[in-house]
Amino acid sequence: MKFGILAYPAKYSLSPAFFNNIFKKLGIDAEYVFFDVPPEELEAFILGVRVADEVRGMSVSTPHKETVMAFLDEISEDARMIGAVNTILNKDGKLYGFNADYVGAMAALKEKVKDLKGKKVVVLGAGGASRAVIYGLLKEGAEVCVLNRTVSRAKRLSDHFENTLGRKISFDGLSEIMKHECDILIQTTSTWITTGLDVKLVPKEFFKKNMVVMDIVYKPLITPLLADAEKAGCEIVTGETMFRYQAERQYEIWFGEKLPNGMVGSY
Ligand code: ATR
Repeated sequence: MKFGILAYPAKYSLSPAFFNNIFKKLGIDAEYVFFDVPPEELEAFILGVRVADEVRGMSVSTPHKETVMAFLDEISEDARMIGAVNTILNKDGKLYGFNADYVGAMAALKEKVKDLKGKKVVVLGAGGASRAVIYGLLKEGAEVCVLNRTVSRAKRLSDHFENTLGRKISFDGLSEIMKHECDILIQTTSTWITTGLDVKLVPKEFFKKNMVVMDIVYKPLITPLLADAEKAGCEIVTGETMFRYQAERQYEIWFGEKLPNGMVGSY
């Protein structure tokens, strides 16, 4: 049995280390590999997966989360609402698409905040990752405000959830952050990866004690934003915690059962 991470570049993913370790510990005869596929080869690659029928499941990451949907047979309702797939199951000649990102994000956040209902949450970023996080927050009954460098994109995201879920989310420019108080701040932009670690996304004065601050990026584990938040006395949630929970959900999708207790933290 084969599994893999479908991305471009794929080499930064934690998934191969995580799943190969799980397979070894559980005595599952399978390997988890890197599928480094450029966008122009995606369609042919998926066709190859269908024909060879050797790959049971895949994780999907940037830049394929949205485009891969066109090549699948069935998409879960959650993934359709979010507009992105991060998990593929190959079963009985069909390819199924799911989104485990929002499940992972909510499980990670709930380690610190048991009940998200009515909580004020500011989400930074309006890309694909942000949509998954916001979908999860809306399902939990949180009050969401999305801030993005490009305001028009934040508005589009707000319109999307009003049209699909009938839920209003407020939006603003990232530079207006000091005007927006919150209980929870979630960083979903690709800034640390695309622009670098020296960008100040959030002024230090924004952080208040009792605020919970999460970054979905796991490299570095403590991002510049989490470092500032920690110094200010906030509780922090790392992207690695979210990663582990979403990987746990992927295991469930591929094997039809939960990971045994204690396995989520072990790799
Ligand atoms: P993903 O699918 O990972 O969310 P994406 O759809 O490319 O990736 O979205 C990237 C997000 O990071 C966007 O919100 C982007 O802001 P813009 O819409 O204004 O481009 C944000 N982003 C990337 N680099 C940034 C930077 N240096 N400062 C602020 N926001 C940044």
